[in-house]
Amino acid sequence: MNQEPIILGFDTSCDETSVAVLQGKKKLLSNVISSQIKLHAPFGGVVPELASRSHLENLETVLNAALTQAGVTLKDISGIAVTAMPGLIGCLLVGLSYAKSLAYSLKVPLTTVHHLKGHLFSPFLEHEETYPFLGLVVSGGHTALYYVENFDSITCLGETVDDAAGEAYDKVAKLLGLGFPGGPVIDKLARTGRADAFKFTRAKVKKGPYYFSFSGLKTAVSLVVKKELSIPSPLVGEGQGLASDFIKNLAASFQHEVVGSLLEKAEQALCEKSCKAFVIAGGVAANSLLRSQAQELALKFSIPCLIPSFKMCTDNGAMIAYVGAQQLAQGQYSPLSCNAFSSLPLAIQAP
Ligand code: KG4
Ligand code: ZN
Repeated sequence: MNQEPIILGFDTSCDETSVAVLQGKKKLLSNVISSQIKLHAPFGGVVPELASRSHLENLETVLNAALTQAGVTLKDISGIAVTAMPGLIGCLLVGLSYAKSLAYSLKVPLTTVHHLKGHLFSPFLEHEETYPFLGLVVSGGHTALYYVENFDSITCLGETVDDAAGEAYDKVAKLLGLGFPGGPVIDKLARTGRADAFKFTRAKVKKGPYYFSFSGLKTAVSLVVKKELSIPSPLVGEGQGLASDFIKNLAASFQHEVVGSLLEKAEQALCEKSCKAFVIAGGVAANSLLRSQAQELALKFSIPCLIPSFKMCTDNGAMIAYVGAQQLAQGQYSPLSCNAFSSLPLAIQAP
């Protein structure tokens, strides 16, 4: 009896070392994620060189854990998928070199995967693939809206012209002395704050209706902090447990504006494009307000809102294996001379 192929998926694009084992198109046998948050937290953000070195140390352990959890050995592997773009270049090179050596020694094909394609299709590990769909990818490094007709036909409708949504969360959290990463802590504080406490003007981006901008919002938050507290920023020392009403209200108002801005553009795109599903993916897709309001928006258009489970929102090898499996099935093999790229667009831009 022919077994479906088993492939490995590697992601080392930023601060998570992850390896997954996938059988066939979507039978996930394991998905091990080793987070470097503790390593970078004292610096208030990801330190690229530390991240690369940590991947170098961790890959062997994470791979072995993924194989053990999946109940397979390297002899069972018939292909390897690895993120080669975009991301921190040192981190990408560590993962790509590791995956290349493994592919060479196991004599199996290698396929390089675009990290954002991994995020964009990540909900389909848990939901039916539905085309065409509108995809909102929101992470620490990227914020973009895509119109996806099928696996190979992706159009970028717009993206951020400055900070990514997750980056805005991280910068505002740093400003408020809330630690790193900022998303989860602001999300939690916002639940007990008043979203109408502070009004922020939404940025109008000249480039087009689906482009985002978050750097002005971050500056506006810093001005509120300076004005209200009359102390110079950064505001240090407000632990989450001790958070004042001011911080909670500011977190809620900031979050309201970020989510409002993301979904306003998504709604406009849903009005103009005929879509059978609304997909949200990437680290910020773990946000409670975004998840609930995106569901409501999809309901208005009578289409499903497909959001990955929390573990699949953050960077992971499973989403890379998912895309890689389809690329390998299509014969998209990468040569052992292939390179990594810190930035490379996923798709053509809409005119
Ligand atoms: O996709 P991801 O794991 O890494 C990148 O490819 O960037 O996303 C990480 C980002 C961070 O900026 C983090 O603050 C944000 O996702 N994030 C959140 C939440 N959880 C993580 N942002 C808002 N709300 C959350 N609950
Ligand atoms: Zn990511």
